[in-house]
Amino acid sequence: MQIADMTGKVALVTGAASGLGRATALKLAGAGASLVIVDINAEALAETAALLGDVPVLTHTADLSDPAQSAPAVEAAIARFGQLDALCNVAGLIYLANSHQMPAEQWHRTLAVNLTAPFLLSQAAIPHLLAAKGAIVNVASTAAHIGEAYAAAYCASKAGLVQMTKAMAMEYMKQPIRINAVAPGGMITNIAANFVPPEGCDFELIKRFSGMRGTVEVEDVADLVAYLASDAGRGYHGACLTIDAGITAG
Ligand SMILES: NC(=O)c1ccc[n+]([C@@H]2O[C@H](COP(=O)([O-])OP(=O)(O)OC[C@H]3O[C@@H](n4cnc5c(N)ncnc54)[C@H](O)[C@@H]3O)[C@@H](O)[C@H]2O)c1
Repeated sequence: MQIADMTGKVALVTGAASGLGRATALKLAGAGASLVIVDINAEALAETAALLGDVPVLTHTADLSDPAQSAPAVEAAIARFGQLDALCNVAGLIYLANSHQMPAEQWHRTLAVNLTAPFLLSQAAIPHLLAAKGAIVNVASTAAHIGEAYAAAYCASKAGLVQMTKAMAMEYMKQPIRINAVAPGGMITNIAANFVPPEGCDFELIKRFSGMRGTVEVEDVADLVAYLASDAGRGYHGACLTIDAGITAG
């Protein structure tokens, strides 16, 4: 997928230490963007920075489950580059559990990272994105659209993220900013480490949201995120693009 030239533009990507976030950062850098990469994992974030080579990059370590750590990431981006053209909210996590047994801590952390942080980052970024005629891309999931057993917190967070995307798109309809989401199906990334089905679970129920065509490629999803973040995605506003090899088809 061809994304627009990002020369002279600055993109902030959360979750950039791994998986889709790293792939998105590399994709945007390949199109000429300067990068602000944000993650809780400082060591892996440094690896992403090394992969970016000569690209101007600011690495910013933050625990986005802490509401106080979102806005400073945007402030650091402005302090370093003086502008922000794209915000890609990619960081996310999942815990699988029986709902009647899920520790409240896991519920709160899921909502904090997957939903509250994208809101707080958007809140801080919007004035700068309006000035730059920029874009927000939120990474949701098939879990936003179908009920996935043992993933009530994750489903709630991703469905909330899609509705947040649409509500903000309506709110800023008459202003120069684009706000969209993507909803991927399963990708092989480090998130799988937490994809531990609860003991005694019914695998038939998990099969229901695993899909019949297997996983989607991280690179393909990164292409889509970068496309929406760039001016090539100018026709999209308030959209949630699914890329899930048919999981939500029926
Ligand atoms: N992999 C899949 O099957 C899949 C499917 C649909 C949607 N997604 C979504 O894609 C996005 C990227 O996930 P991924 O598959 O690349 O997984 P990943 O685990 O490889 O990457 C997620 C990144 O988020 C970071 N992160 C987690 N908690 C954080 C916190 N508190 N503060 C800051 N950073 C934090 C992690 O350190 C990691 O680098 C997530 O939003 C995920 O929900 C993934």
